Amino acid sequence: MKKRYGAFFMLILILVLAACSGDSDEAEGSSDSGSEGDENASTVEIFSWWTGAGEEDGLLALIDLFEKENPDITIENAAVAGGAGTNAKAVLATRMEGNDPPSTFQVHGGDELNEGWVAADKMQPLNDLYEANGWEEKFPEDLIDLVSKDGNIYSVPVNIHRGNVFFYNKKVFEENGIEEPETFEEFFAASEELQEAGVTPVALGDKNSWPATQIFENVLLGVLGPDDYKKLFEGEIPFDDERVIEAAETFGKILDSVNEDHAARNWQDSAQLVANGEAAMLNMGDWAKGYFVNDLDMKTNEDFGYFEFPGTKGEFQVITDTFGLPKGVGNPDDVKQFLTFLGSTEAQDVFNPLKGSIPARTDADESKYDAYGKEAMKDFGESSLVPSLAHGSAASAGFLTKANQAVNIFVTQRDVDNFIQALKDASSEM
Ligand code: GAL
Repeated sequence: MKKRYGAFFMLILILVLAACSGDSDEAEGSSDSGSEGDENASTVEIFSWWTGAGEEDGLLALIDLFEKENPDITIENAAVAGGAGTNAKAVLATRMEGNDPPSTFQVHGGDELNEGWVAADKMQPLNDLYEANGWEEKFPEDLIDLVSKDGNIYSVPVNIHRGNVFFYNKKVFEENGIEEPETFEEFFAASEELQEAGVTPVALGDKNSWPATQIFENVLLGVLGPDDYKKLFEGEIPFDDERVIEAAETFGKILDSVNEDHAARNWQDSAQLVANGEAAMLNMGDWAKGYFVNDLDMKTNEDFGYFEFPGTKGEFQVITDTFGLPKGVGNPDDVKQFLTFLGSTEAQDVFNPLKGSIPARTDADESKYDAYGKEAMKDFGESSLVPSLAHGSAASAGFLTKANQAVNIFVTQRDVDNFIQALKDASSEM
């Protein structure tokens, strides 16, 4: 892993400026992220972007259970709305820079944690917590690696989301005689049939670029395979490799089959197109499953089905939400008590069935999960695991910001050469 402290502080500046400028509509739902928590030893503030439909049910259930079991500690929910942390990450950056950290905050394992907050010396190691709870035997080794740097462990994973999934409307597939596609060829043949039948093949909501970036990373995985996908983000394969160019072309072809108003929608709005049958399929992390089941009352394998992103069977795009202990927090023991809870099977089995994810622990109670969850658990154990770019694990936040910008421009201009050049230019920051 590379050193990029200078780039990191540059990025904080960019994030702060971005927070001041855009996306005010999504920020409206923001709750007050006040900082009194640290003065009051009995308050622990949890900072995340889990607000509203499809996001907050699991978090609220966690808070509820913890407060019941720990009446001396109050949890302050400081969530800032905006999928994938679009707004929350900028607010967090401002607070961390102002030495006003939340007691604990949502952070993805991988570069976002290790090359971001840990490299900037903002986090406390949690090795003692892992030891006290025997967690090194309870969390998969690969996952502990994602939250470790230089021999220390820095956060507690609450879940594992999968990013390389297409969810689809079962009725729409049945009515049009469409089978679950496995290859890009089958996928584009299905899209053509759907288009001829007047159905939008793919729902997209890229009001913020990340859902489009997520499609692109999955195409990269499908074209390159897991080993070379990882090498691309390790800087061992250049962005002008002919397979990356092929992936950009394939990405463009998928964009030909999305709803016209994609730029006006967020991820929940795009999922609704699939729910109501206006669109057939949606590539989204499986938080969309939580949304379909808990918010839209849809039934797994009856109302909606799912298949791996074309070309990615046997591969698992890992997105893990984790929580750590920032330096400078006034009541670290209370925060550790909360983190101990987040790492327990009890908490993970309350949170994940609602969130759509699977537990990060290997000894969770499978019976609490639906057919999708059970399959995801099995797949996680048997698949090649790869880190997500769109959700901050595969590359630095500075590169991700530029990749999102490049994707955003590509979605409208569709210029493969420019897109590849922009990614290549940004790759020195990876
Ligand atoms: C991801 C996060 C998920 C989910 C999603 C949509 O980055 O890991 O838990 O919240 O964003 O907001």
